Amino acid sequence: MKTNKLISSFAAAAVIIGTASAASNKVEWAEITPELGFLEQAPSGLLSLKRLEEILKVGEALFVAKFTTGDGAGRPAATQAIDPTKVRHQPTEPFARLSGPDSLACSSCHNDPLPGGAGGFVTNVFVSEGFTNANFDTSDPQFSNERGTNHLFGAGLIELLAREMSADLAAIRSGALRLARQKSEPVKVALESKGVSFGALTVLPDGLVDLSKIDGIDTDLVIRPFSQKGVMTSLRQFTINAMNHHHGMQATERFGSRWTGENDFDEDGHFDEMTPGDISALVAWQATLPAPTIQTPASNAWKQAARTGAELFNDWSCNACHRQSLPLKSLVFSDPGPYDAAGTLDNKQVRASAEYDLNLMEWAQNLPKDEQGQILVPLFGDLKRHKITDRRIATLGNELLSQRFVGRDVFMTSELWGVGSTAPYGHRNDFTTLDSVILAHGGAARKSRDSYEAATEGQRSALIAYLKTLVIEK
Ligand code: HEC
Ligand code: HEC
Repeated sequence: MKTNKLISSFAAAAVIIGTASAASNKVEWAEITPELGFLEQAPSGLLSLKRLEEILKVGEALFVAKFTTGDGAGRPAATQAIDPTKVRHQPTEPFARLSGPDSLACSSCHNDPLPGGAGGFVTNVFVSEGFTNANFDTSDPQFSNERGTNHLFGAGLIELLAREMSADLAAIRSGALRLARQKSEPVKVALESKGVSFGALTVLPDGLVDLSKIDGIDTDLVIRPFSQKGVMTSLRQFTINAMNHHHGMQATERFGSRWTGENDFDEDGHFDEMTPGDISALVAWQATLPAPTIQTPASNAWKQAARTGAELFNDWSCNACHRQSLPLKSLVFSDPGPYDAAGTLDNKQVRASAEYDLNLMEWAQNLPKDEQGQILVPLFGDLKRHKITDRRIATLGNELLSQRFVGRDVFMTSELWGVGSTAPYGHRNDFTTLDSVILAHGGAARKSRDSYEAATEGQRSALIAYLKTLVIEK
């Protein structure tokens, strides 16, 4: 498998743990990990190449592991809710397709075209806040939002971009607060980072912040780049959510005694099912997955069409939201990170976060840079939420529940990198073609979509030819 290859390999040094990647269940590798001290403690400080490679092996093993009841899979007494919540009635089945647990492994869903990838319609997840309707047994959208499985390639770069943007916006806010105090008058500032506008805010001299003009972002100005709704902060937060929701494997840092007063919150007889070290290993594996690439087309005809398609992508303002790239200052990933809240470790709750330089990865060598040396992350996204329906074009407004205060027809711009490898499309994975999902864009994307609709067959096909060059390398 071509994923997560470091610049130079420490294959020999990894021998002790070599069986881990072959092992497909935790019991087996848990027998060997205590020697490495993995399970007991999350890694911290700047990681050497060798240490990172060891951690990635564990992370990969955990991502593809088929968890068993022997490991603590299942959550007879707990719901899928993000905040630890007890079930009101004990479910009798170990699996429940809708409210979960719904699978044995992360890679049961994230597997196309390889582990860490997207998933077909059959891997859809029924996302609900899960407080009142914990054990819903209908896919009726009044109980949950049905979402398709998106891929995780380049996820570390996405989180790093989001962190730098959140820091920019926080600096703009505090600058405005200072100025308003100094001048004793209201100060209005544009909220912009990396060329993406998130509206504006006005600060009054007494420190009151008027947030009525912010756009596509939460009121705390933190970019939440994960989930198609754009409401999840970090790989760490998502991993803990997913472990509980899909597998009933509960992370100590959220479900353990510190927050719940219990160390077997799901009451399945297993204590501390996922240690902070396990979560760190999973985060590291996901954060170092290679960025998708732009493939050189196999034929001249395709090459030509893709070139035309790239121009049309700009002419029709697809790039107003699907930015071909956003600049990133630093490739150093730290975990736990700076923006998590209660129930997910953040950098203020640990002695020292683990730090690893994504530049150690072989794939990172091919990332383009600008004149200032910033990495141009080719995500084809803006990490911003947009209203995607209007009165006439409303297919993507198929959800009935808002999520975390975000309206039901508002979604984060999908990053299009890898889109050539991840059919079907749309947040519910219910569009079989790129053409049909493009035609489903309404709301803020309506003009852009209308240009596409009004174009000639040849132009539309050229645009698709371009999108088909955005692939996840196998
Ligand atoms: C049953 C299928 C399924 C399983 C199993 C699953 N996922 Fe997912 N995953 C999804 C779906 C669906 C989404 C999109 C959720 C949304 O948009 O709200 C997703 C999204 C994600 C994201 C956010 C990606 C992004 O760019 O928005 C991460 C990170 C993630 N999953 C990690 C994991 C990890 C780690 C595991 C194992 C602990 C896991 N997933 C298991 C279906 C699954
Ligand atoms: C106003 C912002 C905006 C504009 C402009 C825009 N998009 Fe999108 N695009 C989005 C959002 C938001 C989504 C996620 C929709 C959803 O909920 O499924 C999306 C989704 C997509 C998808 C589906 C990706 C997947 O993996 O499912 C494709 C393909 C796409 N856009 C292509 C285009 C093209 C081509 C254009 C230009 C004709 C365009 N978009 C213009 C915001 C935009």
